[in-house]
Amino acid sequence: MSRELQTASARIPRVEELLSQMTLLEKAGQMSQHSWGFGSDDEAREYIAAGKLGSVLNAPSLEERNRLQQLALESRLGVPLVFGRDVIHGYKTIFPIPLALASSFDVGLAERTARAAAQEAAEVGIDWTFAPMVDVTRDPRWGRVAESFGEDPHLTAAMGVASVHGFQGRSPDEPGRIAACAKHFAGYGATESGKEYNTTWIPETQLRDVHLPSFQACVQAGVMTLMTGFNDLNGVPASGNAFLLRRILKGEWGFLGAVVSDWASMLEMIQHGSCADDTDVARVAASAGVDLEMASRTYLKHLPRLVEAGLVPLELVDDAVRRVLRLKHELGLFEHPFSKPPVTSVALSAEHLALAREAAQRSMVLLKNDGALPLAKSSRSVAVLGPLADAPLEQLGCWSYDGTLEAAVTPLSALRARLGQGVRVEHVAGLPDCRSSDESGIQAAVDAALAADVTLLFVGEPANLSGECRSRAFLDLPGSQGELCARLAATGKPLVLVVMAGRPLTIGEVCAQANAVLYAWHPGTMAGPALADVLLGDVAPSGKLPISFPRTVGQVPVYYAHKNTGRPPKQDRKQIPTGTPLDPTDFDASYLDVEVTPEFPFGFGLSYAKFEYDQLEVTPNQARAGDAIRIRVQLRNASDVPGDEVVQLYVHDRVGSLTRPVRELKGFQRVSLAPGERKCVEFTLTTDALGFCGADMVGRAEPGEFQIFVGGDSRAPLGGALVLV
Ligand code: GLC
Repeated sequence: MSRELQTASARIPRVEELLSQMTLLEKAGQMSQHSWGFGSDDEAREYIAAGKLGSVLNAPSLEERNRLQQLALESRLGVPLVFGRDVIHGYKTIFPIPLALASSFDVGLAERTARAAAQEAAEVGIDWTFAPMVDVTRDPRWGRVAESFGEDPHLTAAMGVASVHGFQGRSPDEPGRIAACAKHFAGYGATESGKEYNTTWIPETQLRDVHLPSFQACVQAGVMTLMTGFNDLNGVPASGNAFLLRRILKGEWGFLGAVVSDWASMLEMIQHGSCADDTDVARVAASAGVDLEMASRTYLKHLPRLVEAGLVPLELVDDAVRRVLRLKHELGLFEHPFSKPPVTSVALSAEHLALAREAAQRSMVLLKNDGALPLAKSSRSVAVLGPLADAPLEQLGCWSYDGTLEAAVTPLSALRARLGQGVRVEHVAGLPDCRSSDESGIQAAVDAALAADVTLLFVGEPANLSGECRSRAFLDLPGSQGELCARLAATGKPLVLVVMAGRPLTIGEVCAQANAVLYAWHPGTMAGPALADVLLGDVAPSGKLPISFPRTVGQVPVYYAHKNTGRPPKQDRKQIPTGTPLDPTDFDASYLDVEVTPEFPFGFGLSYAKFEYDQLEVTPNQARAGDAIRIRVQLRNASDVPGDEVVQLYVHDRVGSLTRPVRELKGFQRVSLAPGERKCVEFTLTTDALGFCGADMVGRAEPGEFQIFVGGDSRAPLGGALVLV
């Protein structure tokens, strides 16, 4: 076992004392988590009373939680339980889904929303959330893209760290802090073909450059737990993967917290075909470094005998139990095992609702605008159309089972409240729901559009088409929403399209038909007021895409940090008219039937304001390892409205011992500018940030030429040069 762990635990006398008194079965119990309602809850009560269960997932109520805790405290050693639940993007107050939050590029916002969620969860006795999910993914077919922070390692790490600070607080005695859990370790976001729970093949250099940095950043930020993924990584399931857990997490990174398996993911190693039976599962998982088994019972059933038979070293079991006891100690559960309802609840407080509204405002991405937005104050009649204009459940998104549906304010109700008496608001859904192909209601929507000055059309995905086990092989708007949009566009009246979804959709056709397109993701409880704020111009949209939008699912994976290849395309789309003779000189890395670029690139998002960049300075433009490189750019708001711009910094390593991405995000800053205002935006880049994992698995920056780009999305043209000597 690592010396650091022994030292760290030695500072907790009760941990060592308890460990010395525990039987093997009690130790196996500390390594086991019961999921309420999954298997016998009565049996779980018996185990808890006998000190043979250390944690409970999804306790049904605060009262039951405390009753179970009382049972645990009355057991022989009286070790308190730790209670977990998925508080992913809010508890009673639902914030925008993580992919939406990532669109804000606002780490302060991510911390504040996690803090608010933690406070609401802690009130009902939740000690531990299974968030943030920091899987990097470039595949919108995968339903859990909704739960991710998108395709980029740097952005994912920044949002993940902010979430950890939000959930766990900045100091151990911060009220309402709960343990965070960086998940799903590791590589789950690379699930083959975007199919849920599918296999993942990731070369170690890419694993270390793309999929591990966000987890390492969370570990360095002090995340108290990690969760293993369902996926097999390069042939070894993540829940039995000693390379991930022992070599990298607990070895290289020195992680001292606890690793929990994902729901029955240990038992699933039998299905994977890497374990013969559940005895094997317990042996493989304990040896690999899973400290706490979620939902299944293999540790309780087999670990004592495996240790007695010498098949699992006792010191590994002790290591695991130490980590679980440290978690409970750091959460103060030994001193304060019971949770009591607050005198005044913060759930759905005015402050939290205002935060949910602000988060939704900042998460929306304006993809197109020919001037139709913000809505003209002169509009006297507005048609609010589409199946998602008044669908409170859908706007809450994928992980919202504790959300208060009655508190959700829809776009229709918010617009009706805001537009007031002077403006006629007519609502027609047009379709029974957003998956329906029953087009009998479309004509009524067309009639409403014809009678109005402007149409706001709300389409997208229902909440239950995104999230876990919601992979889609097509990315179109479900049902007849495309037909509805086309029919409304044919009226010739101004059409504003608002898309609410849990993933990038292939929306090129409907974008072409609309005058303006606002991508709102699933914005949560305060979707309505936030949309009204943006549509009416009270707030300028400022979101930027955290993931590339494919033109067609056939392009997937399409992402900005791609390699240049030996034949970078000469044009976006190859034209091969019929009869064109074979001409090998124009063979390049392109398609015959679609552009090579995405519909919308990573980092892209418009504003009502207009931002201009110039005067990029790189100082010094020749640097040695360890130097700090200062990058400055002048940013101006060349419009007469205020706005926020996310200034993005990208680098490209021209020549490397391994081929390098054409661009990589290395910094971003949200900047607020008044009309006409100019600001100097400065970044400091370390030479370490220029590094990558070489073929020898060592991370280093290699001497040579680098290009530096700064701008408002990943195509930023404004460049500078840097030479690393
Ligand atoms: C689920 C998810 C995981 C979640 C866990 C507990 O299957 O994969 O993200 O935290 O089970 O609900």
